[in-house]
Amino acid sequence: MYLLDSIQSVMENLEKDLIRQIQSHVPVAVEIGAHILQSGGKRIRPQMAVISARMGGYDGTNVIKLSGAIEAIHTASLLHDDVIDDADTRRGLPAANTVWPNEMCIIAGDFLIARALSSLVSIGNMRILQIVCKAAERLSEGELFQMKNIGNVDLTEKDYHQIVVDKTAVLMEVACRGGAILGNLTSEQEEALAQFGYNLGIAFQMTDDVIDYKSEKAVMGKTPGNDLREGKLTLPLIFALKDATLDEKNKMTSMLQERQSSDGDLEWVCEFLMKKGGIEKALEVSSRYLRTATEQLDIFPDSEEKRALQKLADKILRRTY
Ligand code: FPP
Ligand code: MG
Repeated sequence: MYLLDSIQSVMENLEKDLIRQIQSHVPVAVEIGAHILQSGGKRIRPQMAVISARMGGYDGTNVIKLSGAIEAIHTASLLHDDVIDDADTRRGLPAANTVWPNEMCIIAGDFLIARALSSLVSIGNMRILQIVCKAAERLSEGELFQMKNIGNVDLTEKDYHQIVVDKTAVLMEVACRGGAILGNLTSEQEEALAQFGYNLGIAFQMTDDVIDYKSEKAVMGKTPGNDLREGKLTLPLIFALKDATLDEKNKMTSMLQERQSSDGDLEWVCEFLMKKGGIEKALEVSSRYLRTATEQLDIFPDSEEKRALQKLADKILRRTY
């Protein structure tokens, strides 16, 4: 289930740490935290941190604190995001905002962030604290920039890139960099792992955005066509719109702005994407980022950790083929 069998026990300790992180004298804080944390996330970011630290031979408790904090921040961002998107499901289960009021989910997310920060402080490494805080800033900036562009049919590839970097890539970069710092790797090695995480993160989000138009609800654990209904323009549509007719562009504009697209609209968009090759073009870009990610690993000698990171890149590539 994990990328590397030998990290099983570290990952089990991480699960315990996550449970510890959500303990509170206010039961609903624990309930909301447990609902989302135990809904079967893949723990990709923690695994990236743990494996990066092990590239330098580090396996101590600080990597659990780091991974736990990163996973808690990621989880908090999902709680917030599901409120913003009015999501029904997350990881195949009812989204927390369908069980508890929006306001409570927001504050439960804040609680997770606060606990994550306390946990990071206890590592006692100023650089780690700095980079994770910076990533949390970027997450919020990415989400705000995306919100500001809801319904914007003229969103450029550059704007999309900025959203993907801030929303997803930066936290993955920091997971790897933080692990590398704990593993006491050289600055060249640290930078390579950070770039691995960054490029993989971009590809990961691009893949997610492609799957939103390709996958069945049962496979994805969330409803397809979400981005369209939420008025978000993503890479496949940005490419498809480049050679759209005026009629097609107008239709897309009204769908994105009305934010009430029907199944018929989704079908139309999927056909439009197929006709213009939007999915293939987006996948091409995403594979390029994945290639850049794996090239970063070239400076490391062969090891089971290196192979595990390569496996992660392969998994992301295979998600869409
Ligand atoms: C999922 O995007 C959302 C994110 C990757 C990040 C959301 C970030 C915030 C709400 C800012 C929160 C800030 C902090 C510091 C916690 P999506 O809606 O495209 O994907 P989905 O389909 O999985 O919902
Ligand atoms: Mg969402």
